[in-house]
Amino acid sequence: MADSLDSIFIEFKQKLSTLTTQAEVLNLKSQAMGKKGTITEILKNIKNLSIEEKKIIGPKSNAVKKDIETLVQNKIFDLDKDAINKKLAENKIDISLRNSLLKSKETSPCLHPVTSIQREIEDIFLSMGFDVLDGPHIEDEFHNFEALNIPEDHPARDMQDTFWFKDLKHLLRTHTSTIQVRGMKSKKPPFKFVGPGKVFRSERTDTTHEMCFHQLEGMMVGKNITVSHLIYFMKTLLKEIFKKEMEVRLRPGFFPFVEPGFELDIRWKKPNVKKGESKHSGWLELLPCGMVHPHVLKAGGIDPNEYNGFAFGLGLDRLVMVKYGIEDIRHLHSGDLRFNNQFKEY
Ligand code: PHE
Repeated sequence: MADSLDSIFIEFKQKLSTLTTQAEVLNLKSQAMGKKGTITEILKNIKNLSIEEKKIIGPKSNAVKKDIETLVQNKIFDLDKDAINKKLAENKIDISLRNSLLKSKETSPCLHPVTSIQREIEDIFLSMGFDVLDGPHIEDEFHNFEALNIPEDHPARDMQDTFWFKDLKHLLRTHTSTIQVRGMKSKKPPFKFVGPGKVFRSERTDTTHEMCFHQLEGMMVGKNITVSHLIYFMKTLLKEIFKKEMEVRLRPGFFPFVEPGFELDIRWKKPNVKKGESKHSGWLELLPCGMVHPHVLKAGGIDPNEYNGFAFGLGLDRLVMVKYGIEDIRHLHSGDLRFNNQFKEY
């Protein structure tokens, strides 16, 4: 019986090596280990064997069973891998060949609307003398919270729930305000910069919320900076983006890293105007901002008695949605080229 187990195994191995589909593999497996499989039959008969035989055949048949299972698992894994490699080879795009993307019908040579608006805004700020800074997506608590005047027990941390790494020290940044901290540390006042990029929040998604979205941070630090400077730069930005003078208003808004803090609204044409209602009666919340809190300046190595400044955080996805009338933020991350292709004209 031990010999027949060996030969079943050898035969199984040999047959398995010739198979090319998952279905064939599973079929072969059931010939050995299914209800009426060769190994199953041997296991069923063990009870009729002598004690000596049981001692040998029992463990051996279990070992063969285990080996067959491993072989089957590996084979299926290899077949999957082959299928993926074949697919990849078929869809290969030679990125070193500049026109290979343009040639493909489905791929679009146009930029994603968030990328274009980001570049457009970067250019506007560059023209006003701002630098463009970058920062890492993976941050530590200091840059994301503490340096921004959000200590560990502060309720503002709940508003920005995020994804933590296993060490519980690192996280995916919840806002680009981290770039304020990095910028302050790397520069000597006076300075002004913007910092665009992806940010992450552990949120339930809906038409206006995504787990990953884009912000563009701005900061200006110098002597005697006032809210008027902030309004001036914001109005100039909006005029460039919307190609006309925009009416704005400031409302008080709370963010621990600015004092005073504001929500900047723009006057906006309501999409669904009721009869008799003014078309221009809507205010749209667009941009949180404020004067940099002295604690934040200190954390960035700047003396708050000598310098002050403003900061703002522009939501790029929101801006794209307002500009192009997009009703659901999830389109922006859908990866659907039909969505992207609509922006070829812009
Ligand atoms: N970081 C804030 C947020 O993501 C926005 C903000 C930036 C507010 C700068 C004020 C100043 O909610």
